[in-house]
Amino acid sequence: MRVLSGIQPSGSLHLGNYFGAIRQFLELQEKHECFFFIASYHALTTQHDPNELRRNITEIAASYLALGLDPSRCVLFDQSDLPEHHELAWILSCLAPVGLLQRAHSFKDKTARGIEPSAGLFSYPVLMAADIVMYSADLVPVGRDQKQHVEIARDLAIRFNNEWGEILKVPEPYILPETAVVPGVDGSKMSKSYGNAIDLFEEAGPLKKKIMGIVTDPTPVEAPKDPDASTIFALYKLFATSEERAEMESRFRAGGYGYGEAKKALLEKVEGKFGPLREKRRDWLSRSSDLEDVLAQGAQRARAVAAPLMERIREAVGLRRAPRFK
Ligand code: ADP
Ligand code: TRP
Repeated sequence: MRVLSGIQPSGSLHLGNYFGAIRQFLELQEKHECFFFIASYHALTTQHDPNELRRNITEIAASYLALGLDPSRCVLFDQSDLPEHHELAWILSCLAPVGLLQRAHSFKDKTARGIEPSAGLFSYPVLMAADIVMYSADLVPVGRDQKQHVEIARDLAIRFNNEWGEILKVPEPYILPETAVVPGVDGSKMSKSYGNAIDLFEEAGPLKKKIMGIVTDPTPVEAPKDPDASTIFALYKLFATSEERAEMESRFRAGGYGYGEAKKALLEKVEGKFGPLREKRRDWLSRSSDLEDVLAQGAQRARAVAAPLMERIREAVGLRRAPRFK
């Protein structure tokens, strides 16, 4: 099985990114041939400060490595090292119905929030489809918000194959129901752009403040509480063993257990899991030439797959054989 996924370098990684996507990357790299990348071109749809983009790309590379993505088990690369993605995106965009892209939730959400829609933001799902089919991926691990984009990739792969022959693999999204939507501190979907995220590499002080600030209802300490309606429990569940989960659940239901106490239990879990990784990430950030080497090797391995497919595609659609392939 081929697995592929990417994350935009658009700010710090948070618990939603970890449980919705990266945790699956870590499991899948043990069993399958995996390609994981930094979606730098996608980030240009919303970020125009070059220094910030450069910093975000480096930080996400260091974060991937600190979290355990292992270049000896997966191909780890920066999308912007592979211009082939654009070459294919153009070809796919010549098949993509405008109506299909107009129905993309993410485009509709962003424009509804007042972002001036550029052509890049509009055609973002076409570039994402190119990312996926370029590596003949079978599975695409993502959170639920990206499901529709993977469906667009399926649709475009099928259209391509009908038009020009069976060349592209039709991918499947890989979404675990229990982590499909991780809530943020305000109870709605955790997202960098909603200001409700708990960052994975937050220092201990601000992390505590974030967790103690999770919005709760005014139920008094003595009263029984519904664990299933609580953001604290929803987040705690992601870290806990089944016994720990059952214990917190029964404490909630019994009453006499305050939200403050539950928040402390959650803080301990988050700190215990990600605290030690802060140092690892700092270490990668201080070794910029090692980081560069990882990405350079990753680009080479990615190109070994992307270039031959691109050559077949050019031939299938009737373009000349490019001199670079001769
Ligand atoms: P954000 O919404 O913070 O900008 P991204 O769009 O960069 O996050 O998401 C990167 C990956 O993390 C995608 O696979 C996405 O589906 C997943 N993801 C993001 N937020 C969540 C969440 N709250 N719950 C589950 N998965 C998420
Ligand atoms: N659109 C994804 C996100 O915002 C990032 C992404 C770009 C991606 N290309 C991809 C994810 C290909 C999976 C496969 O999170």
